[in-house]
Amino acid sequence: MKDSKITISVIKSDIGSYVGHNLVHPELIKLAKEELEKAKKRKEIIDYFVFNCGDDLELVITHKGPEEDPKIHRLAWNVFTDCTKKAKELKLYGAGQDMLKDSFSGNIKGMGPGVAEISFEERPSEPIVILAADKTEPGAWNYPLFKIFADPFTNPGLIISPEMNEGFTFEVHDVLESKKIKFKCPEDMYDLLAFIGTPGRYVIKCITRNHDNLLCAVTSTTRLSLIAGKYVGKDDPVCIIRAQHGLPDIGEITEPFAQPYLVEGWNRGSHAGPFMPVSLEQAVPTRFDGPPRVVALGFIIQKGNLIGPLDLFKDVSFDRARQKANEIADYMRMHGPFQPHRLPESDMEYTSLPKIKEKVKDRWKEV
Ligand code: 13P
Ligand code: 13P
Ligand code: MG
Ligand code: MG
Repeated sequence: MKDSKITISVIKSDIGSYVGHNLVHPELIKLAKEELEKAKKRKEIIDYFVFNCGDDLELVITHKGPEEDPKIHRLAWNVFTDCTKKAKELKLYGAGQDMLKDSFSGNIKGMGPGVAEISFEERPSEPIVILAADKTEPGAWNYPLFKIFADPFTNPGLIISPEMNEGFTFEVHDVLESKKIKFKCPEDMYDLLAFIGTPGRYVIKCITRNHDNLLCAVTSTTRLSLIAGKYVGKDDPVCIIRAQHGLPDIGEITEPFAQPYLVEGWNRGSHAGPFMPVSLEQAVPTRFDGPPRVVALGFIIQKGNLIGPLDLFKDVSFDRARQKANEIADYMRMHGPFQPHRLPESDMEYTSLPKIKEKVKDRWKEV
């Protein structure tokens, strides 16, 4: 890797929470910070920031290694393993929830934790936004990423900025069949929407700027249920977006979240509900274990150091989105166990619903 390049790794895991699936315990955050501070002192990493969205612990690590650097993945795995030990000691709920494999084998991908990583040469000023969610799935980023990088009604820069005017290319993963495809926008916009409108299966993995192929957004795409073969909690994805200088500005990145669109997850990972943009302090999902939350942290990257964060949804102008999300939550909750609040049968196959079906299977008679 070129000397001037740096990598931002956002690696996250639910390693147990309190009181139920609500919040990462402060002791775990403290422990994660201590371990990353030691790694910083040993010069294994440049900088770090630890935070949580609900019951998910997020490690932001900057370093000189490449994406998928085994040393960095091992460091994150060790932090999560030690936090799991602490969670067990405290008898936290679901200790080690996302740690689906026993031993580390070089890459944390596919082992449970979610990963979004991006390597680049720092621009003269390098603003980035890190999004983190709780109580939802990786496809939850499809809607805002489309609006940020392809919808001129959301992002006027697509019309005004010469670099953005040439559009963006979206790499989409089919998480069921492990395949990928690229859609170049605006040309392929309708085809892109044909797929990403099914966010449980087709997930935007990364986005490049057509002007110069600059990589400008990456997401985590882990589907825990597909690794575990059963419901073990939602994936609660993360996303990194580079901003400004011919990329979407901060306001163009936050704008889609002013509308609390519906995502899948919420209670028992089995319900559709509004995606509520919140400050770090408000990322405490307790109503019906939700509604699903999203936090957005802005940083400036300075020689690999993380200057920030600015807690972007702390802005009072997102109060109305939160209020609207609460109204939508009332309306959705009214449906109780009925679709479309409860997810369709195909999405329930990884929950314990199949056991209920098995229990009554002999009571069905021909009509
Ligand atoms: P830049 O193109 O320099 O990022 O400025 C755009 C902007 O911030 C306007 O909102
Ligand atoms: P998490 O995916 O955030 O662990 O939540 C699981 C759940 O079942 C909430 O009711
Ligand atoms: Mg949990
Ligand atoms: Mg969670």
